[in-house]
Amino acid sequence: MSDCGAGERLWLVVPAAGRGRRMGAGLPKQYLMLDGLPVLAHTLARLHQAFPAARLCLCLAPDDAYFDSAWVPFAQWRRTPGGAERVDSVRNALAAVADSASDDDLVMVHDVARPCVALTDLECLYAALREDEVGGLLATPAADTMKRDDGRGRVARTETRRGLWHAQTPQVFRYGLLRRALAEAIKSRLEVTDEASAVEALGLSPRLVPGRRDNIKITRPEDLALAGHILAAQRDESLPSSGQVHEETP
Ligand code: C5P
Repeated sequence: MSDCGAGERLWLVVPAAGRGRRMGAGLPKQYLMLDGLPVLAHTLARLHQAFPAARLCLCLAPDDAYFDSAWVPFAQWRRTPGGAERVDSVRNALAAVADSASDDDLVMVHDVARPCVALTDLECLYAALREDEVGGLLATPAADTMKRDDGRGRVARTETRRGLWHAQTPQVFRYGLLRRALAEAIKSRLEVTDEASAVEALGLSPRLVPGRRDNIKITRPEDLALAGHILAAQRDESLPSSGQVHEETP
């Protein structure tokens, strides 16, 4: 559990208004069952474990027929209307708390489709960024060889993977900076698939905080089974190994 510190306020924004069309399932991916609970419930539980005192904005489609407030463990939370794109959902959430948020408050944005984010990564991210003047994101260095296609299904060239990272969420920025960055990005018609890209467009350099590779985003049908295996493996990781149990037993 992270201590937000006296006087510090942390807002969590969880965009969960996607339709998940790439999953090809009958319902949005955040409501698919994973280990006995919907994906959304797992994601919120992870965030709550790390930041129980945070204030949550949960972006949901206005016509969402699947949501159940029993899956929200936060004492302070509100539902905010999802928009046409992810960036619109996040902007709506920021606008909804304009009366109570101040420009220096920290905002952590986390995709609902990443239920495997590790508690240790959440804590490291927060510790790394709470004093950072720009903000930043969890990310992993690219491990595969990277190919650029020619638009016709063939390789145009190999890109160096040196210095390339996969951007994950959470991404953490100050409220005032993030609102300004997203507004500017929309005005200049920038394609915004994460918060960091909007902040970068202001000429700033968000910090890359190395995270675990198992913080996957459920996107395609096979990802759901993968997420199930990851959750099971993480549970095993947090148990003492049989060797340790044996050594400690008199
Ligand atoms: O579709 P994709 O996986 O890129 O979506 C990333 C996140 O943004 C998901 O958590 C999804 O629910 C959310 N989203 C949203 N509003 C939209 C589109 C996506 O909140 N209009």
